[in-house]
Amino acid sequence: MKILVFGRVGQVGSALAELLAGRYPVQFLDQPEIDLAEPASAVAQVRSQQPDVVINAAAYTAVDKAQAEPELAHVINAQAPAAMAAACAEIDATIIHYSTDYVFDGGATEPYTEEAPVAPQSVYGMSKLAGEQAVQAASDRHIILRTAWLYSHLGQNFVKTMLRLAAAGKPLRVVADQVGSPTYAWDLAQATVGIVDALAAGREDGFGIFHATNSGMTSWHGFAAKLFELTGHDDIAVVPITTAEYPTPAPRPAYSVLSCARLKQGYGIELPDWREALTRCLARL
Ligand SMILES: NC(=O)c1ccc[n+]([C@@H]2O[C@H](COP(=O)([O-])OP(=O)(O)OC[C@H]3O[C@@H](n4cnc5c(N)ncnc54)[C@H](OP(=O)(O)O)[C@@H]3O)[C@@H](O)[C@H]2O)c1
Repeated sequence: MKILVFGRVGQVGSALAELLAGRYPVQFLDQPEIDLAEPASAVAQVRSQQPDVVINAAAYTAVDKAQAEPELAHVINAQAPAAMAAACAEIDATIIHYSTDYVFDGGATEPYTEEAPVAPQSVYGMSKLAGEQAVQAASDRHIILRTAWLYSHLGQNFVKTMLRLAAAGKPLRVVADQVGSPTYAWDLAQATVGIVDALAAGREDGFGIFHATNSGMTSWHGFAAKLFELTGHDDIAVVPITTAEYPTPAPRPAYSVLSCARLKQGYGIELPDWREALTRCLARL
């Protein structure tokens, strides 16, 4: 089972690099070898490498910046995955692609299933939804993992930002009216490897969209409070604020908890509770 991964330096890509090494023949590609702003560069790699599985861990992930760069976000998040999926279809390879909770509008009050109506509110969410739809249209052999609120011991993310601000010793104001499931990129990569293992064992009936987040839910404020509790920062005051008090260029869903039951039923994979995952992440910081 030969694997080609787009994006090794990101949060999920770097976890995949650690977890796949020695397990499968795997090739990772980043800029400048490929540039997803030029989708043809990805197609050329799929054709020349002839993998059995392509994992697309690369994306335009700057949610606020995307509001001002809709064309670039669309090319990287929709046209490039579409081209990859079409190239995979040519050689009967499977594509594993990541998407986001931001395809939902956040108006729900119970966890979103994979069939729940999508209505992205931001340019980023729209570009990721267009990517999902293009991948689905281009290849039957697709597995799309919608995830949320990713963080890692590597890369830039909410956890790293909070710890940096805490080091300055000032009270922190954190949004308390957006609810979701913080997800350790390592656990998402583990789930991905579980799916690859199933494909390697000959699994042929597990294609489609799956939700994949750590279990449980909290607000950004709850996430920060837990982070400071676990790191012994009793000195840090975390003040809950509303979204209106922290305006951002891109709107975020107020509620974006995803039901991950299909992943559990289909692959027997369940990501651990977010608090336990955060503890493991902190141990690696
Ligand atoms: N981060 C989140 O909270 C979150 C939430 C839900 C879903 N997701 C999805 O989960 C997946 C993984 O996210 P992540 O947090 O691991 O992303 P990340 O850490 O931001 O990494 C993104 C990767 O994409 C690469 N990339 C960006 N532009 C590129 C281009 N033009 N050509 C080639 N590579 C390019 C980056 O490389 P460079 O660093 O070299 O640019 C990097 O390797 C993405 O599909 C994302 O949309 C993320």
